[in-house]
Amino acid sequence: MRGVTHDPVIEALLGALAGDEGNHPVRVHLATLLVDAGRPAEALDQAAIVLAAQPDHVEALRVAAAAARAVGDEAKATAYARLATALDPATAPPAPAVPDTADEILERWSTSDPVVEPDIGTIRAAGITLADVGGLDEVKKRLELSFLKPLRNPEMRLRFGKSLRGGLLLWGPPGCGKTLVARALAGELGASFYEIGLSDVLDMWIGSSERNLRAIFDTARSNRPCLLFFDEIDALGQKRSQLRGGGSAMRGVVNQILAELDGASTDNDGVFVLAASNHPWDIDSALLRPGRFDRTVLVLPPDAAAREAILRFHLRGRPTERLDLAKLAKLTDGRSGADLALICEQATEVAMDGSLTAGRLEPISQRHLEDAARAVRPSIGEWMETARNYALYGNDTGAYDELAAYLKKRRR
Ligand SMILES: Nc1ncnc2c1ncn2[C@@H]1O[C@H](COP(=O)(O)OP(=O)(O)O)[C@@H](O)[C@H]1O
Ligand SMILES: [Mg+2]
Repeated sequence: MRGVTHDPVIEALLGALAGDEGNHPVRVHLATLLVDAGRPAEALDQAAIVLAAQPDHVEALRVAAAAARAVGDEAKATAYARLATALDPATAPPAPAVPDTADEILERWSTSDPVVEPDIGTIRAAGITLADVGGLDEVKKRLELSFLKPLRNPEMRLRFGKSLRGGLLLWGPPGCGKTLVARALAGELGASFYEIGLSDVLDMWIGSSERNLRAIFDTARSNRPCLLFFDEIDALGQKRSQLRGGGSAMRGVVNQILAELDGASTDNDGVFVLAASNHPWDIDSALLRPGRFDRTVLVLPPDAAAREAILRFHLRGRPTERLDLAKLAKLTDGRSGADLALICEQATEVAMDGSLTAGRLEPISQRHLEDAARAVRPSIGEWMETARNYALYGNDTGAYDELAAYLKKRRR
């Protein structure tokens, strides 16, 4: 048994937790080790501490179930397990492999918690890789070629003289996976995912933005490897012509970003900068020049194969009947990844409601999903209309060629 070899680790974790009471991930991990070590009663105590603070902590519920089963309390075990299953969203990232040795645990611990908590935005472990992103084969191929491969291979990078300064811009209709892809790229690089969202950006309108931006890049540098992600960057890099009132303030923000990206005075090794936009036509062109966000990747609505993968992803771990997902994928042409997530959500709710009424488990059926697919309206029609105008009338630089080709293909 592994019980004996685990003991020093358990002792170390117990000691560490004495100074860090609220560290739930570590406490849950400790509980798992206690179960493995044949000490389920103590495991149950540890899980209970977490659940007292956070009753919907799924991992704690799962450990508590295992521990309760091990002490022979079958009723309690079933109750915990049922709660965990009900709470466990199908979108949850797969649980990372459980570390075994003290070194692995300390390493996990040191990389999963940000060294410096950001004042602006959120930072966390990526938790997913590109394999968790459904479909989008073209996008993955492009990212592999223009971003991941050269990063993984510094020698090749030198040989081709390809500069990796500057960042990558993901653009396309809302809800089609830009944020998801950015997070997955952080996972691929083993980097933390540091997200600056729209509200953070808007705060910068008001606050002392230059200082805030400096703080953001400093935080990214202290947490490297770190993928710094500016979501909805169009809000931040508005074209000068569209700026009213606060224009000069935003100008300062854009200039500061450029200075940080150019990184002449600072060491940005291990900091990867990505941005996303639903409205690339609103982005200040200074941000798009070579050495800045000069590599762009269009993230289009999912094709049938991608839709099938996305549906499967959002239904995994949920009780279903035998499903014809290919048929459902055909029915959901024109829906975004977010629309598909919503369809799965709605079908699940109906099935859960039916189960509660019937007093027994009624799995999600093809019918539930098809009904939901009809009820959920496609959310990207308006975006496509606007985008079509740019592809038709604003494409003198060829920036929208890929989009134009897509629209033309769809017309036929
Ligand atoms: N390719 C995909 N695979 C799995 N889920 C997806 C995919 N695309 C979108 N989704 C779902 O849609 C949601 C919205 O996607 P998101 O990345 O936030 O879109 P965007 O940033 O482009 O607006 C995601 O949280 C996820 O649930
Ligand atoms: Mg997004």
